[in-house]
Amino acid sequence: MLTKSKELITWNKEMELGIAPIDEQHKKLVDLMNEFYEELEEGKRKEAIEHFLDELGNYLVYHLDYEEKFLEKIGFPDFKNHKKTHEMFKKFYKEEIERLKKGNEKAIRELIAFTLSWLYTHIMKTDKKYAKFFFEKYGKKEG
Ligand SMILES: [Fe+2]
Ligand SMILES: [Fe+2]
Repeated sequence: MLTKSKELITWNKEMELGIAPIDEQHKKLVDLMNEFYEELEEGKRKEAIEHFLDELGNYLVYHLDYEEKFLEKIGFPDFKNHKKTHEMFKKFYKEEIERLKKGNEKAIRELIAFTLSWLYTHIMKTDKKYAKFFFEKYGKKEG
């Protein structure tokens, strides 16, 4: 179909940390949500859910690990707490997937709400704290 469906979430400046590889990864989370929405719109509910939860599971591992390595490397003072929050994310995901496997469909809604709050609360507030630290310590990169 040529008709481009509207995006669920549009990436914007407020979501940006200014650290390119991390922004790229954060954009990926927005892409995942948008793809999910698009597939739902196309009426492919089952595939949409499977695809979304699969990708989200992979994303959780590689993005959070990448970010933790970065935080250690730059000597972020609040590293421990940040990592703790990431661990809570992984635990929550695992538990909800287990619930879903047992047939509890509520888990899907929980995981979607979780992803949204990850974007709006974690990325836009918590991750921004380490970006602030990073730029204070190392300065903004030129160009
Ligand atoms: Fe992040
Ligand atoms: Fe984070």
